[in-house]
Amino acid sequence: MTPRWPSLRLRGPTAAGKPGAGEDSPAARPAPAAAPPPVVELRRVVKTYGLGDAEVHALCGPADPVSGAAPGVDLSIHQGDFVAIMGSSGSGKSTLMNILGCLDAPTSGRYLLDGTDVGHLDEQQLSLVRNRKIGFVFQSFNLVPRMTAVDQVELPLAYAGVKPEQRRRRAVAALTLVGMLDRAEHRPNELSGGQQQRVAVARALVMAPAMLLRTSPPATWTAAAPMNCWGSWTG
Ligand SMILES: Nc1ncnc2c1ncn2[C@@H]1O[C@H](COP(=O)(O)OP(=O)(O)OP(=O)(O)O)[C@@H](O)[C@H]1O
Ligand SMILES: [Mg+2]
Repeated sequence: MTPRWPSLRLRGPTAAGKPGAGEDSPAARPAPAAAPPPVVELRRVVKTYGLGDAEVHALCGPADPVSGAAPGVDLSIHQGDFVAIMGSSGSGKSTLMNILGCLDAPTSGRYLLDGTDVGHLDEQQLSLVRNRKIGFVFQSFNLVPRMTAVDQVELPLAYAGVKPEQRRRRAVAALTLVGMLDRAEHRPNELSGGQQQRVAVARALVMAPAMLLRTSPPATWTAAAPMNCWGSWTG
């Protein structure tokens, strides 16, 4: 699998997305019949906060210079893609990440994740989607202070109802993948920053999600590192 590094650049609260950036380029993609469906597909996604004079178009795509109409954001992410969302402060990066992570819903538009139209799901179904299909690695890692590394990695499996024996086996495999097996019984305050980060990555990967979301690229990852991890995990 060859890593691809497309990026979506957001340009201010009323102009999300460079025209064409982050979208499928027909020339760069195989014919639709041969290509598997995208893992992530956003179509005309808009996010607006507030009403009337207080309305903020946090995500709306590049506005038409004549009519001022905002088409919304289109984005397709395929299996094996690595996508960086970049843009100035207030351009809508967090808004888009929250929507991609099913932590917030768009005001309008459609979001298909791994073939599921998440716009039609209730809160309980959305929490299942977050558990099964999305691995989160937060900037501050969000590890539970009193839990050992292996217990942290078991958490998503426990929420999914996986039996204890299988949980342990899969958590150990994930920790092995990130080179943290020798620290499996250590708590976060006994680990370095980079080691805490690797535990968070193991926890995000242990459910073999469709998508791994990270709020900023880990300083210790080279361009190839996440692909090596992901490739080994998904086979
Ligand atoms: N709850 C909210 N109510 C009103 N406006 C909001 C709300 N959340 C975000 N915004 C506005 O939406 C726009 C996009 O915000 P967002 O947090 O997505 O930006 P960002 O690109 O992540 O910025 P930064 O790089 O500073 O984190 C901003 O103008 C922000 O003020
Ligand atoms: Mg932000």
